[in-house]
Amino acid sequence: MLEIIEKHIRTIEQTTLSTAEEAENFRIQYLGKKGILTTLFADFKTVPNEEKKAVGQALNALKTSAEATLAQIQVKPSARKSGPVEDFSRPGYATPPGAHHPISLVRNEIVSIFERMGFAVAQGPEMEDDWHNFSALNFPPEHPARDMQDTFFLAKDPDWALRTHTSSVQVRTMESQKPPIRIIAPGRVFRNEAISSRSHCVFHQVEGLYIDQNVSFADLKQTLLEFARAFFGEKTEIRLRPSYFPFTEPSAEMDIWWGLENEVDYRMTKGTGWLEIMGCGMVDPAVLESCGIDPGVYSGYAFGMGIERIAMQRFQIPDIRAFYENDLRFLGNFSGAV
Ligand code: PHE
Repeated sequence: MLEIIEKHIRTIEQTTLSTAEEAENFRIQYLGKKGILTTLFADFKTVPNEEKKAVGQALNALKTSAEATLAQIQVKPSARKSGPVEDFSRPGYATPPGAHHPISLVRNEIVSIFERMGFAVAQGPEMEDDWHNFSALNFPPEHPARDMQDTFFLAKDPDWALRTHTSSVQVRTMESQKPPIRIIAPGRVFRNEAISSRSHCVFHQVEGLYIDQNVSFADLKQTLLEFARAFFGEKTEIRLRPSYFPFTEPSAEMDIWWGLENEVDYRMTKGTGWLEIMGCGMVDPAVLESCGIDPGVYSGYAFGMGIERIAMQRFQIPDIRAFYENDLRFLGNFSGAV
C-alpha cells in the first residue's frame, strides 16, 4: 500500500493544472467522495498495526500534496469554479497610435513634391570639412559665417565643423556626378546661435540643386512657383527679392503672399503680408569650377529652406523649442496627420 501511495504522490508532483475543467477532474479523482483518497483511507483499516504509522503518514502526505496542487490553480481567477470569470463587456485597453514628428511630416511633403518634379534625394555627413561647407561654396576666408559665432568647429581640428547648411551635400554631389544633376538634400544642420523661440542651434533644411546646359533664372522661378503652389495652395503667389549668398549669383529670397487680414497675419509677416520661405539663386560659376564642372558649358540653380519655420507656420507652433522637447502631449497632436 505504501508503494501505491508513493506512486500517487509522484504523479501529483508531475501534474500541472491549467484549466478549471482539469482542476475539477483532479479534485474528483483524488479528493472526491469516491476518489482515491477516500478509498485509501477506507483500506487503512486493513493495514497491519506495525505498518499503520508509516502508511498513515504517507496518506496524509498524499492528501496535503493533492490539496496543494489544487490550491495553486484555485488562486487564478480564470480557474474559479463559479461566476463569470471575465467581463467581456469591459472596454479594451486602447493602444494610442504612433505619430510622425511634425518636422518629418513637413520634410516628407517637401521631398515628395520635388521628387514628382524629378529631383533625387542626396545625403551627406553632418560633420564636414572646411572645403565642403565653405571653401568650395566660394566663402572668402574672412567671411563672418566662418566665425566661431556661427559655426561649431571641432576643438581639436578647426578644419572640421558640424555642417551649417546642407549645401555641403550639393558640393559632394557635384564632385561625384556629371551633369545633368537634379537633387534635393534634406538634413540636420547646426549653427552656434542663441536659443530662443525663433531660432535654435540645431535645425533642418531642404536644399535643392539643378545643373544642366542652359539652365536659367526663369527655370528656377517656375520650379519654386510650382513648389509653392503644391505646398501652400494652388493660388499661392510668390515674389523674389534680391539677396546675397556667396555661392549664388544672382541671389534672391523667395517670399509667398500670406495675406494681411488679421492680427496673426500681421505678426507673422511683420506687417508686410509676405512670408519669407527660402534663399535661392544661380550657382556661382566659381562654385561649379571648384567642383570640377565647366561653367562655360553648364549652369544651374540652387535653393534652400528651413523646415522648422515652415512647420511652425503650417501647424501654428509659436516656439521652435517645442520640436526638440519630445513632449508627448505636443507630439500626440500629429498622430492623425500623415
Ligand atoms: N545655404 C543657404 C542657407 O543655409 C540657403 C541657400 C541655398 C541659398 C541655396 C541659396 C541657394 O541659408
